[in-house]
Amino acid sequence: MNGRGDTMSRIHQRKQSHVDVALNKDISYHRSSGLERYAFIHNALPDLDFKEIDTSAVFLGKKIQLPLIISGMTGGHALGARINRNLAMAAEKTGIAMGIGSQRIALEHEDMHDMVSSSFDVRKYAPSIPLLANLGAAQLNKGYGLKECRQVVEQINADALVFHLNPLQEVIQGGDVDWKGILPKIGRIVKALDVPVIVKEVGFGISDEVGRRLDSVGVHAIDVSGSGGTSWAAIESRQGSMRRRMLGRRFWDWGIPTAEALQMNKGRRTKLIAGGGIRSGQDMAKSIALGADYCTMASPFLKAAADSPRKVMELILFLELELRTAMFGIGVKDLKMLKGTPSLRRLTP
Ligand SMILES: Cc1cc2nc3c(=O)[nH]c(=O)nc-3n(C[C@H](O)[C@H](O)[C@H](O)COP(=O)(O)O)c2cc1C
Repeated sequence: MNGRGDTMSRIHQRKQSHVDVALNKDISYHRSSGLERYAFIHNALPDLDFKEIDTSAVFLGKKIQLPLIISGMTGGHALGARINRNLAMAAEKTGIAMGIGSQRIALEHEDMHDMVSSSFDVRKYAPSIPLLANLGAAQLNKGYGLKECRQVVEQINADALVFHLNPLQEVIQGGDVDWKGILPKIGRIVKALDVPVIVKEVGFGISDEVGRRLDSVGVHAIDVSGSGGTSWAAIESRQGSMRRRMLGRRFWDWGIPTAEALQMNKGRRTKLIAGGGIRSGQDMAKSIALGADYCTMASPFLKAAADSPRKVMELILFLELELRTAMFGIGVKDLKMLKGTPSLRRLTP
């Protein structure tokens, strides 16, 4: 097998085993997202008709029914193809946005009839929703540039490109550990790419300092993807060498809790996205009240999509009902009123 083929099969195996571990093992942070430290002041006399509450938002110029984005997770293998298809069908039916997993592997398979590439091709199931392409920012130090970014966007007819920042995960898994000079490279892509660029973590969180630097190069949105949900150190601790397992266990709870990462990044020019440990409509409501414009969720969608599009739809519809109920409970009729509402209080310990 040549060098490229060898790398391909390693990426392929790794991606598949990440999904297997996420579906079958405990990989959640022991520490929470911090959102439970907040509570809304109940409004016993809302001047509202529940039926008129509006949870819709505009994302990347398209209307979505809920401020919700399925976070990028998978593709590149048969199970990933099924998961992406089920997610896309449910997202289209319910009118929410969707991201797909890193398309690095698909760049090596440009033929869309190939299973690897076509596993990312969800546009055919979701013609109208905002779709997000995905690449690891570390690849910008491995020879990837504008050409590859354009390719992944075109491959799925995406509305934006998401770069994921995962330096700690890369160290634990023994992957791409040279992160020098990545920011100006992101900045150059922001300037030249035809679609907006979004930057996210994978669960360790984005601090105020990193948020400020990303803002300075003009990214469209920051998904803080903080700690409290899926722990990538936990995922890495479940597989591979002894070194990887031990390091993964030591860093299981490393990261900035999502509620704190939101506080650190609110009020920037960029759109703010809450991710990492968002598990309910109330988490969504609290995140928006803390300054987020949208929310992302990964792991719960993975589990539902491994079952069926119907399970994904049920999850989305319940999240919507819960968000609406929380909005009714504080008497706000739309997301504009929810964002920054004074009704959210931090509980004293
Ligand atoms: C199986 C799995 C694969 C993932 N792959 C990617 C990926 O390829 N690109 C990416 O940006 N994030 C990836 N993530 C991270 C998620 O998008 C998200 O940021 C993280 O899981 C935290 O959200 P959660 O607590 O709702 O799961 C993956 C997550 C899971 C569970």
